[in-house]
Amino acid sequence: MRSLKPLILVAAAAFSSAAWADDAVVKYRQNQMAALGAHMGSITAVVKNEVPHTDQLNAHAQALAATALFTKTVFKEKVQNSQSASKDAVWSDWDRFAKDADALQEAAAQLAKAVAANDQGAVRKYVGEVGKTCKSCHDQFKLKKGG
Ligand code: HEC
Repeated sequence: MRSLKPLILVAAAAFSSAAWADDAVVKYRQNQMAALGAHMGSITAVVKNEVPHTDQLNAHAQALAATALFTKTVFKEKVQNSQSASKDAVWSDWDRFAKDADALQEAAAQLAKAVAANDQGAVRKYVGEVGKTCKSCHDQFKLKKGG
């Protein structure tokens, strides 16, 4: 517990400053995306019966739906660096980007509902729907890394 105090002080200092470090902003939104990717990977493996962890499906679906809610917030500030794979269009075409983020949010919420209801047909359907929203947004707004 003692080690918590300096952390809180650092956080307080960060909150009082207006400018966020660009690298941290980019890393944070990439972490959000990586989290979506990891939960989707786990969900797909369970749904395809590649692993036996059906008892974990609900937690991954809930986490995916909860994380999806942050998409617009973490991209709102226009920040790019050499590590970022975001196209300028994210901000120049914000309304369309926001629509894609909303589509992800909706599909992820439906998936979480289907998992909670143990409706396997709907689970398969909404895993597909979520996957489509990832692809649609990436096709429009994400640079292909390495060319
Ligand atoms: C509304 C648009 C949008 C949606 C929806 C979206 N992404 Fe992304 N994603 C992006 C953008 C833009 C980037 C590039 C971020 C950057 O590097 O600045 C990205 C990057 C990523 C990355 C690379 C992260 C890294 O570490 O560099 C992964 C993995 C990813 N997305 C997975 C997903 C998955 C899985 C979904 C669906 C569940 C999804 N994304 C939905 C826009 C989106």
